Amino acid sequence: MNVTEALATRMSCRAFLPTPVPESTVRAILDAARQAPSGGNLQPWHVHALAGAPLAELVARVKAAMPAHPRGEPPEYDIYPPELWEPYRSRRYKCGEDLYATIGVKREDKFGRLLQFARNFEFFGAPVGLFFCLDRRMGPPQWSDLGMYMQSVMLLAREHGLHTCAQEAWSAWHGTVGGFLGLPQELLLFSGMALGWRDESAPINRLRTDRASLAEIATLRGF
Ligand SMILES: Cc1cc2nc3c(=O)[nH]c(=O)nc-3n(C[C@H](O)[C@H](O)[C@H](O)COP(=O)(O)O)c2cc1C
Repeated sequence: MNVTEALATRMSCRAFLPTPVPESTVRAILDAARQAPSGGNLQPWHVHALAGAPLAELVARVKAAMPAHPRGEPPEYDIYPPELWEPYRSRRYKCGEDLYATIGVKREDKFGRLLQFARNFEFFGAPVGLFFCLDRRMGPPQWSDLGMYMQSVMLLAREHGLHTCAQEAWSAWHGTVGGFLGLPQELLLFSGMALGWRDESAPINRLRTDRASLAEIATLRGF
């Protein structure tokens, strides 16, 4: 598989088979992703990988905490700016609508949407859960570095035949996750990521999101 194929076949997988991923594969992916670039070569990323009993225990802890705190814990960062503007607002809206349409959940079915959203906190059934953290004193450039590490993980996963779903949703449970992982106070939980084998029969995995055209996002001169 080349980079173009890895990019073209990566998608956010939201239903996985329970088939385990060998530790050696997870290590190989996280290890190779270290080659991601970062400003000043700070390499500001920290990653935790869970499988088996620890993964099940964390999922159970979050599930137990959910009824008392349906919205999770007070956020440490805004996932989106408070009032999204165009064209981003419409893109976000369409992404949500298209996602729920794959599983036949209507806009007014708040409970159905909530149920699907809660699947985030089971890593959509994936056998591996990853958590990506960075020092909370870091700024936007280092957050982008962390994103590059994450994208490297997602592309390498494709090379191993695996799929992923990045999950900012996990930031809503930063206290519970941080306590479970023993994160030092200075580390901020940015995102989770599900990793595993795609359930090819799951309707939710049929979603293919679109992209703005090159003309909308790129300006080329002098060629
Ligand atoms: C940093 C990051 C966090 C994300 N968090 C979530 C999440 O919490 N739950 C989810 O279902 N999808 C999440 N996504 C997936 C995006 O919705 C998805 O990447 C986008 O709609 C484009 O679709 P695609 O990944 O299938 O190409 C996240 C993606 C990124 C890059």
